[in-house]
Amino acid sequence: MEQLNPEKLPRHVAIIMDGNGRWAKKKGLTRIIGHQNGVKSVREVVKASRELGIRWLTLYAFSEENWKRSKYEIRALMDLLKRYLKSELKEMLENDIRLSCIGQIDKLPIDVQTTLWHSIEKTAHNKEMTLTLALSYGGRQEIIWAIKNMLKDVEKGLLNIKQITEERFPEYLFTADAPDPDLLIRTSGEFRISNFLLWQIAYTELYITPALWPDFSKERYLEALLDYQKRERRFGSTSG
Ligand code: IPE
Ligand code: IPE
Ligand code: MG
Repeated sequence: MEQLNPEKLPRHVAIIMDGNGRWAKKKGLTRIIGHQNGVKSVREVVKASRELGIRWLTLYAFSEENWKRSKYEIRALMDLLKRYLKSELKEMLENDIRLSCIGQIDKLPIDVQTTLWHSIEKTAHNKEMTLTLALSYGGRQEIIWAIKNMLKDVEKGLLNIKQITEERFPEYLFTADAPDPDLLIRTSGEFRISNFLLWQIAYTELYITPALWPDFSKERYLEALLDYQKRERRFGSTSG
């Protein structure tokens, strides 16, 4: 396999982890087993990102629209999330990984919120990598929330309309402290964004792989990163 250029790594990788259900169906297993196997890929990608020196990793774990799923599947996903957070805390502390989250966290079950905030607090001083979980997250909802908060600042006289610019607006998004993603990976072959990071991906490189999320291994991740390194990012300018 070709070698990755450590000088040209994406600073921020975002992933739409899709295909757990189809992976399970293909094997004659339940969707829940698919999600359980998806957690293995999460572990592998987090570990590989940290080893490579990627500074920001954002994982789409549960969308605002995923609340439309059955109560049974939602509870199973929430239980898996809680178990993941508990089992990975030690690993995050040992590897200098800061945990963060974006989304309407107050919609999550209380027990999950408690576990999540505990891990976020414990890892708050870690520096090498920020792992952000998008939970009950929707890009459109985030933009509306940001506009409302911005208008509150206008009402308070902290901001005037002239100051509403491309530079200031992102300060009101959930992702205020993070750079925009350089690379967005989507597994399971769907060519859509599904309401993920709408504002933030304006100039992000997209990589779509047919691999289903539980099959997304370290090797496949490296392939995605190699592909990214071959791209020419222009940001609207000309080549060279
Ligand atoms: C991704 O797998 C996990 C979540 C969206 C929570 P899916 O559950 O969407 O799997 P498919 O798309 O049905 O295969
Ligand atoms: C996107 O996957 C959301 C997550 C990966 C959490 P979905 O399976 O929910 O997306 P659609 O329904 O195929 O667009
Ligand atoms: Mg899906």
